[in-house]
Amino acid sequence: MQNLKGKRIVVGITGGIAAYKTIEFIRLLRKSEADVRVVLTAAAAEFVTALTLQAISGNPVSQSLLDPQAELAMGHIELAKWADAIVIAPASADFIARLRVGMANDLLSTICLATASPIYLAPAMNQQMYRQTATQENLQALVRRSVHLIGPNSGFQACGDVGAGRMSEPAEIYDALCQDLSVLQDLAHLKVAITAGPTREAIDPVRYISNHSSGKMGFAIAEAFAMRGAEVTLISGPVNLATPNNVKRIDVVSAQEMWQVTLKTAVQNHIFIGCAAVADYRVAEIADQKIKKASDEMQIKLVKNPDIIADVGHLRENRPFTVGFAAETQNVEAYAKDKLNRKNLDIICANNVAGGQVFGADQNALQLFWQTGSASLPQNSKTELAKQLVNKIVEKYNEKQ
Ligand code: PMT
Repeated sequence: MQNLKGKRIVVGITGGIAAYKTIEFIRLLRKSEADVRVVLTAAAAEFVTALTLQAISGNPVSQSLLDPQAELAMGHIELAKWADAIVIAPASADFIARLRVGMANDLLSTICLATASPIYLAPAMNQQMYRQTATQENLQALVRRSVHLIGPNSGFQACGDVGAGRMSEPAEIYDALCQDLSVLQDLAHLKVAITAGPTREAIDPVRYISNHSSGKMGFAIAEAFAMRGAEVTLISGPVNLATPNNVKRIDVVSAQEMWQVTLKTAVQNHIFIGCAAVADYRVAEIADQKIKKASDEMQIKLVKNPDIIADVGHLRENRPFTVGFAAETQNVEAYAKDKLNRKNLDIICANNVAGGQVFGADQNALQLFWQTGSASLPQNSKTELAKQLVNKIVEKYNEKQ
């Protein structure tokens, strides 16, 4: 059994018949020496009693936002900060909808809104409720915000229906949690620098040249490393994303700025990953004032930007293990391998962006190449893909040491 010793887990229980299974999940957490605090919604208390949960978890159960005694022992903000993870099992359709819109109208939803820790949902509901567009949209929106889904399973339901919506089994929820938390510190010896997002190349004070990179892939990689205890520096172009927990972020705008920060940072790290979509060219002379519309045509002279990853790859001293990306619309493998060699990289991650569904998307697939081999990471959420990519990078990094 994997170990969650010392991990602080808030288990939220919402109203549903599957609540009885959560007792077994809490028993597994306790067996693995996790510290568990249970938060019960009013509807959940109709299915399982606080007394049972208190006995199983070994701690008082919190039920109300407005309970002065409970708030005195451990207030809702304290609980939100205390948790290494929040697991909501079962997560009802109603709770999922409230979480999606950021409601804070009971203790559990308030804790979820107040936490910076990862949230795991084990949905449980009637198959028709689960299939509803509203529920599916709510779940997709939450996944985009990095909420983790566990299940649900398909099969016979308590109401007599058959279909998807059965809560995952306690052991499945436990294993999913272990995959993220029990390995939390196994990369604590590694320092990793990652570039993400686009760069902006100014034309004049109000205009710039850029691209469609959202930063999602690079941020997901940063999060995946940080979750395993690595010391992560994320050098980000202008994006609209929250910084993952335990990640040091340095914001830059232009390629030249990114180049300066990266060259200084990369040599202090074991691994460097260039995921940013860096502009290859910048405007030769940035106008001081807004350019006026004077004629039918205009020409802007562009000059080459420094190639950040090539400069890191060719460092003679303190060169980190260097991983690049290649976004290609044709001849993906050939162009990617060419970049692997030309930029002196250890791994290149080839992205086929021909369909236009990679930049800004929540999903991606990657083809990895290194000098002696290759690997495919099939279509998945960028969050999951990043975890698989981290495994591969660490494997190849360790081989090289
Ligand atoms: O941000 P998202 O919306 O999630 O999208 C992710 C992504 C598609 C941007 C990302 O997965 C990706 O493929 N990034 C690299 C995109 C790119 O510009 O590739 P490229 O083939 O032009 O560059 C090759 C490599 O050289 C890249 O590692 C790039 O970071 C690096 N480079 C390029 C130019 C330059 N001047 N300096 C560089 O370091």
